[in-house]
Amino acid sequence: MPIVTSITKLLNIRVQLNEGGMQWVGLPRLVAAVSDAGGLGILTALTQPNPDALRNAIKETRALTSKPFGVNITLLPSINPPDYAGYARAAVEEGVKIFETAGHSPGELIKYFKTNGCIVIHKCTTIRHAKSAAKHGVDVLSIDGFECAGHPGEEDIGGLVLLARAAKELKIPYLASGGIADARGFAAALALGASLTSVHVGTRFMCTVESPIHQKIKEKIVASTEQDTVHIFRTLNNTARVFKNKVSMEVVSIERRPGGAKFEDVRELVSGQRGRVVYEKGDPDYGIWSAGICIGLINDIPTCEDLVLSLEKGVEEIISDMNTIVVKAKL
Ligand SMILES: Cc1cc2nc3c(=O)[nH]c(=O)nc-3n(C[C@H](O)[C@H](O)[C@H](O)COP(=O)(O)O)c2cc1C
Repeated sequence: MPIVTSITKLLNIRVQLNEGGMQWVGLPRLVAAVSDAGGLGILTALTQPNPDALRNAIKETRALTSKPFGVNITLLPSINPPDYAGYARAAVEEGVKIFETAGHSPGELIKYFKTNGCIVIHKCTTIRHAKSAAKHGVDVLSIDGFECAGHPGEEDIGGLVLLARAAKELKIPYLASGGIADARGFAAALALGASLTSVHVGTRFMCTVESPIHQKIKEKIVASTEQDTVHIFRTLNNTARVFKNKVSMEVVSIERRPGGAKFEDVRELVSGQRGRVVYEKGDPDYGIWSAGICIGLINDIPTCEDLVLSLEKGVEEIISDMNTIVVKAKL
């Protein structure tokens, strides 16, 4: 039975479940499959080489699903920044109404989306940042706990505490993000945020039939445990949780050298193009690729529809079991 919340109503979705933006992974087929399954699929803008390619990806997604989907734009610290404004304009002109923003100084982008009547979800890793994003006028916050793949921030606050604080202090709807890959995590997120919350899932969707990554990487995730991720860029104040492999361990060891490391020292190792080859060729050791500690909970490669249905069913069972426990406890 779907749980109707302010977020399902706002985003016009059946299940309170979003697929987070994922570089090289958030492509039309996966996005459409998540949206068709009842959640909100999100296309990752920077996976496309330029704004025109994003226009085509939006058209392709729309040809695959009639359900709502969004576009993620991630603002990365960069010497030669991508044409963020061009990507944003292309998506707005193609009729996209839901945006996920992440990264540094999103103010201008948020203003542009709001002026064009769009819904903005902004990713944060602290309550302080969440409150400041709310002042910029975002509609929904995505609260990423320490468990998450990608950038967990520098303050190492786990989801349990972060989400309980979010429930107490945030005045706008938010998504619980980081470490959610099964019904237990989903139900726990609902318990932490009551009816305002929805969940935001990344790593789990990498390991689905419709995910565009190589089958060998999906199998590698299934074979891995929660101990198989590592933080890189810790010493550069831009921490990222990635899969633990030869390349990421080399980056960590360069960072730990006496005197530390500069980005230049690891630039070649961490190149996004090498990460892309991991997904294309299926060699998990070729480059850096994002993964959250919930890889320890992933044991299969279902379709998005089967995954979403099993999560929904699992959540219902957990809620009903909890009711039984409460009744028994009262006897
Ligand atoms: C392969 C991969 C790539 C990601 N790329 C991005 C990205 O480009 N921009 C972004 O905002 N978040 C990115 N993320 C983070 C997700 O949107 C989401 O916040 C995170 O995966 C949630 O944690 P989980 O993986 O434990 O579910 C990525 C995550 C993964 C697994």
